[in-house]
Amino acid sequence: MAYQNDDEQAYPSGRVVARLGEITPGCTKKFIRTVNGRDTECFIVNYGGELFAYVNSCRHVPMTMDWVDNQFLNEDGRYILCATHGAAYEPDTGECIFGPPCGQFLAKVPLTIEAGQVIAGQPEAPDD
Ligand code: FES
Repeated sequence: MAYQNDDEQAYPSGRVVARLGEITPGCTKKFIRTVNGRDTECFIVNYGGELFAYVNSCRHVPMTMDWVDNQFLNEDGRYILCATHGAAYEPDTGECIFGPPCGQFLAKVPLTIEAGQVIAGQPEAPDD
């Protein structure tokens, strides 16, 4: 189930959050979506040349995961790490494979590309 989207709609599929090519492999970018009237921090990760996006909220305790602003990936870029207790998530699926929320998934944000723009749709509600 998706949250209600309160954002101004620049594109029918969502809101422009980056330019195509702006986020190079191994890099991330944060953005805000307004969900149910509240600003919700999200991030895009370029993993292996593909873009994925998630709500910036760990599945263990709902805290932001970057210990340094916009620093989500471990040293070799293989996993998204939560700074608080070290949970490791797969960048391409959002599945936690190590740490307290093992087996749970980050809330995904669907992305589409239109006219060279990266557009973020409505974040999914995390499954419990
Ligand atoms: S808050 Fe992320 S692992 Fe505990």
